[in-house]
Amino acid sequence: MDLAKKLRQFGKVRTNEPMSKHTTFKIGGPVALYIDINAVEDVPAVIALLDEVGMEYIILGGGSNMLWQDEPYEGAVITILDSHIEIDGETVLAHAGAQTVKVAQASVKEGLEGFAWGVGVPGTIGGAVRGNAGAMGKEMKDDVAKIEVLVNGEVVEFLNRECDFSYRNSIFKLQGGIVLKVWLKLKNGDAQASMKKALEALQYRNTTQPKGFASTGCIFKNFKIQGLSHASTGDSKFKIEQLPQEFIDKGVVSAGWMVDQAGMKGVKIGDAQVSDVHGNFIVNLGKATAADVKALIAQVKQAVYSKFGVELEEEIYMHNS
Ligand code: EPU
Repeated sequence: MDLAKKLRQFGKVRTNEPMSKHTTFKIGGPVALYIDINAVEDVPAVIALLDEVGMEYIILGGGSNMLWQDEPYEGAVITILDSHIEIDGETVLAHAGAQTVKVAQASVKEGLEGFAWGVGVPGTIGGAVRGNAGAMGKEMKDDVAKIEVLVNGEVVEFLNRECDFSYRNSIFKLQGGIVLKVWLKLKNGDAQASMKKALEALQYRNTTQPKGFASTGCIFKNFKIQGLSHASTGDSKFKIEQLPQEFIDKGVVSAGWMVDQAGMKGVKIGDAQVSDVHGNFIVNLGKATAADVKALIAQVKQAVYSKFGVELEEEIYMHNS
């Protein structure tokens, strides 16, 4: 293919590539083109080539937060491999392909405080910004100073407040735009205290989330309590006083807790199973398909709706063309 030949100057190009090799869920059918981009500066040129032939594309930010379809996809999937990290004083610059874990580790090693929570977050920093990833009560929006993005063929900078960050969301998720570079503003601090926080974050994840099986992190968004008075949840069966105090204090109910209370932990469809460790995870026991996972998601939603009157909303990206 002429296009594939042109794209090869920017990195490896594969055809008919199974997405199950590239998602942490190990699920997904073949894609027509799978393109690696070695240098973030080349992203605009690759996009221009795809636009020229009218080929659809998706940027993969580590494949850690997505459920990819079983059916073939006629478009292109792009991975930005550029993982450059540079620390200057209290500012950390990371190119989009850097693993969030690596960025967090580098910041902690440098004695910077603020981003230790990122040590257990899978995927790339570009993907983390796009989805305003979070853990341990913090989110990307707390640490991002500015980012460089490709929007409509132009490379532009967005300051934090221009990114419209909200819970697991950003302007780029809503309106498009490819994150190229991220600047985090952290604070000089106690290296040992940062390291301790990082270890605590890892330990917490290790003890409360499933290990050893392919998964895609939390499936559903947590539920904001003020939503209870919202018209769409007016028939909610929640009794605020029955909720654990920690949720009332935070104003948010853990979706995992609701799935657990609804008795869905361990429930299986095909090789997809609701984790028996954390209710907001589905694990792939081996040969799960996207169809299995979707059917299980529907069953979990139904069970939580019956028990609490709450409609869970997916937080993962579900690719269906
Ligand atoms: N809980 C249960 N049963 C379960 C799951 C949780 O009783 O099956 C209880 C826990 O015991 C705890 C409470 O619910 O008392 C909250 O659980 P947890 O601390 O695990 O937090 P979460 O709200 O369920 C959030 C994020 C995670 C993040 C963790 C830890 C969302 C949707 N989830 O989970 O993020 O790792 O906090 O910081 O915001 C992700 O984004 O993919 C993800 C997994």
